Amino acid sequence: MRILSLWALLSAATLATAHLPPRNYATHDYYAIHVSPSTSPSDLAAHLGLTYEGEMGSLADHHVFKAPKHSNDIVDDAVQELKRRRRKREVGLESHPLDSIRFTQKQKIKARHWKRSTIPQVSRAGPPITDAITAQRDIASRLQIKDPIFEEQWHIFNVKTPGNDLNVTDVWMQGITGKNVTACIVDDGLDMDSEDLKDNFFAEGSYDFNDHVDLPKPRLSDDRHGTRCAGEVAAGRNNACGVGIAYDSKISGVRILSGDITDMDESLAINYELQKNDIYSCSWGPPDDGKTMQAPGPLIEKAMITAVQQGRGGKGSIYVFAAGNGAASDDNCNFDGYTNSIYSITVGAIDNKNLHPYYSEACSAQLVVTYSSGSGDAIHTTDVGANKCTGQHGGTSAAGPIGVGTFALALQARPELTWRDLQWLVVMTAVPFDQPSDWTKTTMGKMFSHQFGYGKLDAYAIVEAAKTWELVKPQAWFYSPWMHVKKPIPQGDQGLASTFEVTQDMLKKANFERVEHITLTMNIAHSRRGDLSVELISPDGMTSHLSTPRRDDEFPAGYLDWTFMSVAHWGEKGIGKWTVIVKDTKVNEHTGNFTDWKLRLWGECIDAKNQPLRPMPNEHDDDDHDVITTVPAHTTTITVPSSTGAVMANPSDHPDRPVAQKPTTTDQVASTTAFETPISAISTPSASSSPENFLPSPFPTFGVSKRTQIWIYGSIGLILVFCGSLAVYLYLARRKRLQSSRDDYEFEVLDDVEDEEGGVRTGMLAAGAGAGRGRRARRGGELYDAFAGESDEDLLSDSDVEDHPYTDRDEKVFDENRSGEGSDAGGSSGSSSRT
Ligand SMILES: *[C@@H]1O[C@H](CO)[C@@H](O)[C@H](O)[C@H]1NC(C)=O
Ligand SMILES: *[C@@H]1O[C@H](CO)[C@@H](O)[C@H](O)[C@H]1NC(C)=O
Ligand SMILES: *[C@@H]1O[C@H](CO)[C@@H](O)[C@H](O)[C@H]1NC(C)=O
Repeated sequence: MRILSLWALLSAATLATAHLPPRNYATHDYYAIHVSPSTSPSDLAAHLGLTYEGEMGSLADHHVFKAPKHSNDIVDDAVQELKRRRRKREVGLESHPLDSIRFTQKQKIKARHWKRSTIPQVSRAGPPITDAITAQRDIASRLQIKDPIFEEQWHIFNVKTPGNDLNVTDVWMQGITGKNVTACIVDDGLDMDSEDLKDNFFAEGSYDFNDHVDLPKPRLSDDRHGTRCAGEVAAGRNNACGVGIAYDSKISGVRILSGDITDMDESLAINYELQKNDIYSCSWGPPDDGKTMQAPGPLIEKAMITAVQQGRGGKGSIYVFAAGNGAASDDNCNFDGYTNSIYSITVGAIDNKNLHPYYSEACSAQLVVTYSSGSGDAIHTTDVGANKCTGQHGGTSAAGPIGVGTFALALQARPELTWRDLQWLVVMTAVPFDQPSDWTKTTMGKMFSHQFGYGKLDAYAIVEAAKTWELVKPQAWFYSPWMHVKKPIPQGDQGLASTFEVTQDMLKKANFERVEHITLTMNIAHSRRGDLSVELISPDGMTSHLSTPRRDDEFPAGYLDWTFMSVAHWGEKGIGKWTVIVKDTKVNEHTGNFTDWKLRLWGECIDAKNQPLRPMPNEHDDDDHDVITTVPAHTTTITVPSSTGAVMANPSDHPDRPVAQKPTTTDQVASTTAFETPISAISTPSASSSPENFLPSPFPTFGVSKRTQIWIYGSIGLILVFCGSLAVYLYLARRKRLQSSRDDYEFEVLDDVEDEEGGVRTGMLAAGAGAGRGRRARRGGELYDAFAGESDEDLLSDSDVEDHPYTDRDEKVFDENRSGEGSDAGGSSGSSSRT
């Protein structure tokens, strides 16, 4: 009975989404406001002179309000005015309707996300193997597949390089074809009238958040991306094109990439109909230009958390994100807050030869790879039109939906899997393959590579494992205190290391059994962000390359409360020393300081009965107090000597761990991205191997003589004096810009409590979501606002376009359709104009 009423409640909440009147950003401005539960939104609207539109989808106590277009921020102005009056100690203000506001955000049109497709070069190299063709035809006839391009769908059954496919046909033979599972393509539309999609199309799970109509019909000439992705997942077994990986699943579409969108609409879109859509397929993200660092805003993050906590009847919605196509510009999926969310399965690409395609990004948050374009072929799927197919779908955009289809099969085989069970199954069943990369054996005995995650998807393996998988216990977490470092970062091969020790006791108190994800939130002040790299070494000796240098990233303020994520420590106990090493990889005039960091372990709990759900991150994220085991902030800061050898892991911990291999020439892109500057050991501050120490041990010796050290330090001194003045200048300039642009922040926390600066800053930011206003106002996305229009790179030149041949032709057309959103919010407005 209780379950039934919960269901009724949930479906009521779901209905509310559909009943929110369509937004019209041309005539109105909108506010998303989080209020305390007992508040009447209509009363609040009346007080503020706004029109109440309705509940904001599934977000608890969030409501939508509107007013005819206006330049100011009505809600924030009212709140500030109230504060002013209170400071003047006006009477009669002890309790006030505005006190119910916990969070408010006036909606702004965001800079658009990039679709993650590429234009593949298709040459169809290599003849098919006769035996393989016979086997393929046999399978097709046994499954009664008559789809005209089935034989071209090499990612399903590869007749040219046998074995280089998803290994899915024996799953289908068991009748596991995605029945009862619905995937939602969050994209530029979905051609529901296509012969290949219409039977599986699920209108109830669909909506158009660009044009604010019910059906996500592709309307622009370049709206092909979503339909192609949909075909990969759920193209029917029929006489049109090919088949999807889950050809009996339902497919819905939510359209967000083809027009103006706000954080509020993206938030509504990303968990749309969360009891009916099971998997959200997202082949897009912030620009993959090698210089953007952008995370989902608070409303979007809350929508994702709501979905993993409530979606699929409480088992959690599945998010799949394409890793990103920026590898050729040194981009790394840890600079993207969607791909590095613990709630998303990040899928990268390999091509039909199992090679790394030049575009697919690496990062420690990448879980798995699967097939896409490269080595002369691409993905063959449905296209927009009654009976149209394409053989040119590519990029990580095409890999993500193959993952989605595979996960749909696993969910049919085992509907009770939670979102974390599915991630576990990916880790346990992904297949490492014979390609040079930094493959490293993890504590669980799995091989992990930053380029390929835990390997490639094998549909048969994951479905078989799903059938008998023992479900994991609920999620627990452990947060370290903020670790204050506040030291300059040495340049070159050196690194600045800081350590935090997690004890058994701390984890016991946190009801924490074993690690799944780790996140690390950090602040680094630096005048050229792209020079930095960050590694994290676990107690078991596994290294996560959280951040890698990016040659085009000139951003002059370093990392500001940025959260990195790693899945490389999956299955570790977490007990012992966690060491973070920050490097300033370029010896140049750009220097910086490592300010602070905070480690969070996420994983399985010990006692399932005593494990609550993660509280929704919000404005009061000093809630951290409740969940952290407070420990003395014991920070040791040491300087890591450079080494000539190339041993990545701590040898004494894991004598049998394979040494990182350098990528070979087939993998040139990867070799420039990372893993080039390993350090030998983190032993002690006093580098035992140093020749002679001219300075006390914390200073690097560079492995050279005393005289050279004096010279180096002398020069560094001079450079520092110069840089110091420059930095002070830049800092002051930045302060000024930040302050002057403060009014432009998209959202503010209405919290009268002053920022607690100084001392141990009690973790105010849960992974990715901000808290205190001062700090939150400085998170990645907003920073671009502060600097928008100040750099030459904001201007789009033809040569810029030439420099990026790997971006979609579609996107250029797409870009031309954009109008006057340049200075608008949502994050990297500067870089987003480049396509
Ligand atoms: C593919 O599936 C088959 C079962 O059909 C299984 O025996 C095999 O191990 C899987 N993997 C590969 C690489 O063939
Ligand atoms: C689909 O779901 C319904 C109801 O939940 C269930 O009765 C049915 O067995 C399921 N079908 C398959 C093929 O899993
Ligand atoms: C690093 O810290 C030093 C000393 O506190 C300061 O002079 C310098 O400006 C800082 N650098 C940056 C980039 O903030």
